[in-house]
Amino acid sequence: MHFNTPCYVIDEQKLLKNLEKIQWLGQHANIKSVLALKCFSTWPVFKFMQAYMDGTTSSSLYEAKLGYEEFGKEVHAYSVAFSQDEIHDLKQYANKVIFNSVKQLKTFYAELDTVDVGLRINPHISCSDYDLADPARQYSRLGVTDDSSVMEIAHLINGVMFHYNCENKDFDDFSQQLDHIGKTYHDLLHQLDWVSLGGGLYFTLDDYPLEKFAAKLKSFGEQFGVQIYLEPGETAITDSASLVTTVLDIVHNEMDIAIVDSSTEAHMLDLLIYQEPAEIEKVQRSKRCNEQSSNQHDNYHYMIAGKTCLAGDIFGEYDFNTPLQTGDQIHFSDAAGYTMVKMNWFNGLKMPSIVIKRLDGQYDTVKTFNYSDFKQNLG
Ligand SMILES: Cc1ncc(COP(=O)(O)O)c(C=O)c1O
Repeated sequence: MHFNTPCYVIDEQKLLKNLEKIQWLGQHANIKSVLALKCFSTWPVFKFMQAYMDGTTSSSLYEAKLGYEEFGKEVHAYSVAFSQDEIHDLKQYANKVIFNSVKQLKTFYAELDTVDVGLRINPHISCSDYDLADPARQYSRLGVTDDSSVMEIAHLINGVMFHYNCENKDFDDFSQQLDHIGKTYHDLLHQLDWVSLGGGLYFTLDDYPLEKFAAKLKSFGEQFGVQIYLEPGETAITDSASLVTTVLDIVHNEMDIAIVDSSTEAHMLDLLIYQEPAEIEKVQRSKRCNEQSSNQHDNYHYMIAGKTCLAGDIFGEYDFNTPLQTGDQIHFSDAAGYTMVKMNWFNGLKMPSIVIKRLDGQYDTVKTFNYSDFKQNLG
């Protein structure tokens, strides 16, 4: 398949693998899962995802509205800080509104008489390889740190949210965290109807002990008589999409550097933020290259870089069995999470179109961008 690049290709068959695990967990742990839209908001696959999840969670009014309009089911709305106008509008869309501070809760809860109200708590523990993404880092503003102030307003809320993980693959670590939360917030938890344990748990990975995870969650829910929610972002969509790019030029400066028609900064921003290389899923050779004979034992080493002016716009360094050619298409893997929601118009680069490979194998191009999108974005 030759693509008009750059484009993101979301594969429903790959997505299904994660969704079936999420559904299994819901049934066996008696928990509910709400998709974290901050990670993935590409709504043309929501109708497909909806059968496996219980709704969405959001970080803003717009995400909440999108969840309401396109995903349906439950809509959880959290924000680091809401404005008065947002609260007014949110009432139309959200079933649960989760505040980040006691002050905001006290200011707005009276207006929210028709929805569940919750509070985010910072449990002073976390699992994150990056300080930048650590919700329990020093001076963190994410969630209430003063436990006594939470007990004072406990009668105003019926749930709480703890989000304290980032890409946590370690079940034992999670299990200890949950024990800590159970002990520390014992009295509060007994007064609540629901508890969200946030996102950042990589439970759809192949070697994650899903059955143990289910048993742990189930027993926590039963112990405190609460409905547990998870807010999967990355784990819901991991490995389900690729960013397809085309090699436009190959230059040499001590090493061969292939320049593709995309950019880390504009189209896969987290690679830059977290200083990680992209992984290559496959390379589709242009016709010209297919005609050449290749020596399978040779190593052809390239840096692959984006076409913006940012000097460090680099996808990574890779070895190939055959030389790269202009026209080759490079598919970078795991391109669904925190990519499409963060793409931008830096350098006026064409935004990648969005293609969905449906379960029946058909490719459906659901979004393309052009010059007028770029222009209208700015004036
Ligand atoms: C409150 C909250 N819930 C859920 C998530 C989703 O996390 P992840 O994509 O790591 O699963 C995040 C991510 O930052 C978050 O802040």
